[in-house]
Amino acid sequence: MPDYKIAPSILSADFARLGEEVDAVLAAGADWVHFDVMDNHYVPNLTIGPMVCKALRKHGVTAPIDVHLMVEPVDDMIRLFADAGATSITFHPEASRHVDRSLQLIQSLGCKAGLVFNPATGLEAAKYVMERLDMILLMSVNPGFGGQKFIPATLDKLREARKLIDDSGLDIRLEIDGGVKQDNIAEIAAAGADTFVAGSAIFSADDYGEAIEAMRRELAR
Ligand code: DX5
Ligand code: ZN
Repeated sequence: MPDYKIAPSILSADFARLGEEVDAVLAAGADWVHFDVMDNHYVPNLTIGPMVCKALRKHGVTAPIDVHLMVEPVDDMIRLFADAGATSITFHPEASRHVDRSLQLIQSLGCKAGLVFNPATGLEAAKYVMERLDMILLMSVNPGFGGQKFIPATLDKLREARKLIDDSGLDIRLEIDGGVKQDNIAEIAAAGADTFVAGSAIFSADDYGEAIEAMRRELAR
């Protein structure tokens, strides 16, 4: 079985109690914390920035923090999030004028780097920078909001990305983000994903541990 990771998106957490929410979801068995950054420019919503990431580290969070930048441009935010304790930083290639340079910037600051692809965007931007990628993140909803429905065409795209990664022989994680639930995670894994972002499916549950366990049971089937 692949080394599956479950990364709850704190977009669906109670922001008024964010530290407790992150503690709770990690105690419930989450592997990573997925941190959605929106700027009301690249996407039509506004969320949290590097100060909140730093505050979570100060609060005592030691788990990987997976920063998903939905901002444009990206380089200033890369610097600030690396300084704020991000473990990995991903960005959308169309939001950077110099994708290769932005990837190098992330890695030079000691973080893992990745590209994010919107539902209608092809994987071409990944092809010539594979050596610089620690992860590829496929959006299975249009970015900007939690609680949307998984777009089924993403399954074919996952298979395409899985092939690209396997053919490269490189160690690159394949992450999926948007509409991941207990009832579709097995199909998504079968299409090639190894890292699963889930916001509403986990944070709307009464018992986070049971929600994560149910996902792991599906993955082990
Ligand atoms: C959407 C974000 C996602 C979102 C996923 O732009 O990137 O991480 O929080 O939420 P769910 O799992 O509810 O679709
Ligand atoms: Zn995200």
